[in-house]
Amino acid sequence: MRGMLRSRWWLVVAVAAIPWALSRSAESPGPAAVAPVPVEQPLPYSHKTHIALGLQCRDCHSIAEPGFLAGYPAESKCMACHSSIKADSPHIQRLAEFESGGEAVPWKRVYRVPDFVWFSHASHVDDAAVECETCHGPVAEREVLFQEKPTTMASCMECHARHNAPNDCDLCHDPG
Ligand code: HEC
Ligand code: HEC
Ligand code: HEC
Ligand code: HEC
Ligand code: HEC
Repeated sequence: MRGMLRSRWWLVVAVAAIPWALSRSAESPGPAAVAPVPVEQPLPYSHKTHIALGLQCRDCHSIAEPGFLAGYPAESKCMACHSSIKADSPHIQRLAEFESGGEAVPWKRVYRVPDFVWFSHASHVDDAAVECETCHGPVAEREVLFQEKPTTMASCMECHARHNAPNDCDLCHDPG
């Protein structure tokens, strides 16, 4: 019952916004047009440096149950190396303070979809076998990350169409 009411309310809003959503989709930039603005992080963490050490994406982004989030690594994971490596660097000393204080490093988000969008990492990475790089670009070559692939509705739907995956409104907005 609650679900039904919620769905109807959503449809009214959605249908009213279709012309606007479509006009935005039509001018949606291709991947290359996304402005390369590096996100300034609390610590100068480099994917390039760390992946060159042989670490795998999922050593740090474990996609734990229920699988929506890729997640961030625990500070203890970083300190397994950094209690000795570069221990006298001020950045590593800050990292050590976060860990000993039981605090997560306040990483700034690079990729984000609004709360009314349903997205699952497990569905894409495990079930549909889509590579991280397809949606996040060549992370292993980056010192600093920026949003280099779009997360617009048009970009989701375009890939779904290419893979013959469903594109019903409910799939991404109000899954039963
Ligand atoms: C497998 C070991 C290992 C792990 C795990 C690891 N690092 Fe590193 N990290 C290194 C090495 C090696 C360097 C390069 C040191 C150098 O420049 O000599 C480095 C460099 C750094 C630097 C630059 C330090 C400076 O002042 O030059 C930062 C910041 C850093 N790591 C943060 C992290 C964070 C945050 C994590 C956890 C998400 C992490 N590291 C996990 C090995 C590791
Ligand atoms: C040693 C741990 C470590 C490894 C290995 C690692 N990452 Fe990360 N990742 C981090 C940390 C720490 C951040 C937050 C800082 C940043 O954005 O650079 C992050 C951020 C990200 C983000 C941005 C998340 C957001 O805020 O939207 C993406 C995307 C990402 N990583 C993808 C990857 C991919 C793809 C790989 C493998 C090629 C990988 N990572 C390997 C630690 C790691
Ligand atoms: C089909 C596209 C797609 C694939 C494949 C994908 N991601 Fe993401 N990723 C996204 C989107 C969209 C977001 C924003 C999600 C949100 O806001 O809820 C995101 C967010 C993230 C974040 C930020 C924190 C979080 O958990 O939401 C990290 C870290 C990340 N991705 C890492 C990875 C890694 C590592 C892989 C491969 C193992 C991967 N992603 C595969 C699209 C993708
Ligand atoms: C690189 C291609 C690609 C991109 C980009 C992509 N998807 Fe998907 N998505 C897929 C494929 C393939 C499936 C699997 C369809 C199937 O079940 O066969 C899927 C499945 C899904 C499902 C159903 C998951 C389930 O477990 O039932 C949802 C919801 C979804 N995607 C949302 C999104 C959203 C939201 C975005 C954009 C932020 C997005 N997708 C971007 C390829 C993509
Ligand atoms: C494959 C996933 C997917 C499907 C299918 C989908 N959407 Fe979306 N939708 C999104 C994403 C992602 C956003 C957020 C876009 C952004 O952040 O720019 C969005 C945003 C919206 C918005 C807000 C306006 C905007 O453009 O940001 C409306 C309204 C909307 N969708 C309606 C619909 C309707 C109606 C349908 C069915 C015709 C639909 N969506 C199908 C992923 C999807």
